[in-house]
Amino acid sequence: MLRDIISKRESELPPSVIGNLLKTAAENKNIISLGPGEPDFLPPSGVIASLKRNASKATHYAPPEGVKALRAAVAKKLRSENSIRADADNVIITNGSNESIMIALMCTIDPGEEVLVPDPGFMDYRPVVEILNGFPAPYRISEDENFEVNPGMIKEAVNPGKTKAIILNTPANPTGKVLKKKTLEELADIAVDNNLLIISDEAYEKFVYGKSKHISIASLNGVQENVVTLQSFSKTYAMTGFRVGYSYGPGKIIEAMKKVHVYTSISAPTLSQMAAIEALKTKKSYIEKARRDYEKRGSFLHQRLGEMGLGCVVPEGAFYLFPSIKNFKLGSEKFAQLMMDKAKVAMLPGTEFGRYGEGFVRLSYATAYEKIIEAADRMEKAAKNISRL
Ligand SMILES: Cc1ncc(COP(=O)(O)O)c(C=O)c1O
Repeated sequence: MLRDIISKRESELPPSVIGNLLKTAAENKNIISLGPGEPDFLPPSGVIASLKRNASKATHYAPPEGVKALRAAVAKKLRSENSIRADADNVIITNGSNESIMIALMCTIDPGEEVLVPDPGFMDYRPVVEILNGFPAPYRISEDENFEVNPGMIKEAVNPGKTKAIILNTPANPTGKVLKKKTLEELADIAVDNNLLIISDEAYEKFVYGKSKHISIASLNGVQENVVTLQSFSKTYAMTGFRVGYSYGPGKIIEAMKKVHVYTSISAPTLSQMAAIEALKTKKSYIEKARRDYEKRGSFLHQRLGEMGLGCVVPEGAFYLFPSIKNFKLGSEKFAQLMMDKAKVAMLPGTEFGRYGEGFVRLSYATAYEKIIEAADRMEKAAKNISRL
């Protein structure tokens, strides 16, 4: 038996609640899962047709930077839909945007350097910085400020000579907030003034509601050279299992990412990249239908949660609600576990998203409307039996 074989780096990573939750939900058909962020739509028909057409052709590695036609199509999309002055040379296709996060940081962060990460924020940022022996410095996103990002706080958190990058996420997981233009402008100024890299995670860019508008920070004047933009096919086209996303950024960084990609996965799956080319040809009505459905589900669930004392901010984007459980005499993990046991509804404790996530749970509404209605009824019943403060 090998002793001390697991690296300290790995041993110190937090246990993943989501892994256990997915397992329990998959094993128990009675459970309604509002846990993972998985679109319940089918990918566009052109994507499925492409798989069939290319199955026996796309069996080889792709170039590390990605299939040329896909990079060209992505650059065109970034120009027309995100107002980013993009060219195909500065696009790299990765295994989902998750791999983009990892290799963008691998190419820019040295041991001991700091990365400002949102808290609560997507659970990958912090461990990835830690895996690279960097130091994740959480910036708090507070319910008292309606979960708006506070640029003043970020400015103060910059540690000169140490802070190298800021991770932004809009629309945001888990809060469902969308960064406003004024906030983005202030953040852009902070990055330029302090020579900081912005990693802009825009995985949910297409899902915005009400008056909210998605703006890519790289489209703002004077900041493009400081920004790596990450986007994905996973959520927009319900292609999570295809593992295809991309980064766009300054040539120097993208060239470094292409180099390191050879050592992480060589390339994103060729068949998925062919399918992604078709995804970008999909009629806008496909995304609009999903967006409208999510908007309807989100506003219904928001109202129902409010009725049972689980108030949360009005959903602006992504497909998550992040209600406060502060009316109840339980912590986040216990609350989520109790809802799983008593209501048979799976959700994630807010603590999965950072220490400031305590006092909240995350519910995904990327689930059929009827299931959301049923889940809300079950939760309401169970909530009546939890002691309140
Ligand atoms: C904010 C955010 N970024 C990135 C990802 C990764 O998505 P993918 O690797 O499938 O593109 C997720 C997945 O849930 C996410 O929530």
